Amino acid sequence: MTSDATRTGTPTPPPSPTGATPPSARDREQATGASSPAMVPRATGAKARNRNIIAIASGKGGVGKTWFAITLSHALAKRGQKTMLFDGDLGLANVDIQLGLMPKADLGNVVAGKKTLNQATTPYPAGNFDVIAGRSGSGSLANIPPGRLQILTEDLMLMSQSYDKVIVDLGAGVDKSIRLLSRAAGTMMVVTSDEPTSLTDAYAFIKITAMERRDVDIRVVVNACNSTREGERTYQTLLKACQGFLKISPPLAGIVRRDTRVREAIRNQTPILTRYPNSEAAMDVEAIADRLLLG
Ligand SMILES: Nc1ncnc2c1ncn2[C@@H]1O[C@H](COP(=O)(O)OP(=O)(O)OP(=O)(O)O)[C@@H](O)[C@H]1O
Ligand SMILES: [Mg+2]
Repeated sequence: MTSDATRTGTPTPPPSPTGATPPSARDREQATGASSPAMVPRATGAKARNRNIIAIASGKGGVGKTWFAITLSHALAKRGQKTMLFDGDLGLANVDIQLGLMPKADLGNVVAGKKTLNQATTPYPAGNFDVIAGRSGSGSLANIPPGRLQILTEDLMLMSQSYDKVIVDLGAGVDKSIRLLSRAAGTMMVVTSDEPTSLTDAYAFIKITAMERRDVDIRVVVNACNSTREGERTYQTLLKACQGFLKISPPLAGIVRRDTRVREAIRNQTPILTRYPNSEAAMDVEAIADRLLLG
C-alpha cells in the first residue's frame, strides 16, 4: 500500500496531541472524570466481565464504524446471540438514521434522567436485535459531564449482563468522553481504511487505549479495501508499528472489502444483510462474526 506508514516503515505520529504523547496520570484522571479510583471500572474486572461489550472505534471519522457496528450486530443476532447495539457516538448519533428507526426514547432522555437504559431500548425486529439510539433531534451529548458519563458507562455494563453481545458504536477521535465510554468494553475493534490518515489515527487510538488499559482486547478491522490482499498489507503496516513501539500485537478481526452495496443499503436505510446478503461486504462481516464467536 502507499501510505505514509509504509513509506517510513512506521506510522507518522498522529496530529492529535493526545495520541502523540503518553497520557499522564492526570490525563487519565481527567479522561475518566474520576478523582477516586473507586469510580473507575477496574481494568482486570473489566476484562473478565465485559468481553461481551465490543466497542467499535477508529480515530479518523467516516471509516465505516456505524455501518460496521450495525452489520456486526445483525450478523451476531442471526447467529442466535441476544444482541444490543448501543449508539455511543455522543456527538453525531446516527445508528437510528442508518436503520430507519424512530425510537420513542434515546440516550438524551437517559442522560436527562427521564428514562433508564431499559426504557430507552428500542427493538429492531427486522434484525432481531435491540438498539439504544443516541440523541436524536437537536443538540449533542458531546459535552455530557464526566460524572454522568461514568454513571452511563456503569449502567451499560450492568445492562450487558442481559445480553450475549453489546456492540457500542463510538464517535471518531480519542477525546476523553470516547475513552471513558469505551471503558465499558472488554473488546475494542479498531476500524481503519488503507488511507494514511486513517492508519495513523487508528494507531493513535490503539496507543492511547493500550496505555490506559493494558488488559483490553484490541482487534483490527480493515474496512473498504480494494482487495483482501490490500487489506492484509494495511493490517501488517499497523501491526508492525504496534509491535515496534507499543510491544503489542493486536490481532486482525477481519477485512471488509469496498462494496457499492454498502452505500446503497445505507441510502435505503436497510441493513446490508437484509438487502444484499450475498454482497462481498456483507459476507466479510458475517465471517468476522463467525470468528468472533470462536473466541
Ligand atoms: N466496505 C465499504 N464499502 C464501501 N463504502 C463503505 C464501506 N464502509 C463504509 N462505507 C462508506 O463510508 C460511509 C461512512 O460510513 P459510516 O457512517 O459508517 O462511518 P463512521 O466511521 O461511522 O463515520 P463517523 O466517524 O462520522 O461516525 C458510508 O456512508 C458508506 O458509504
Ligand atoms: Mg458513525
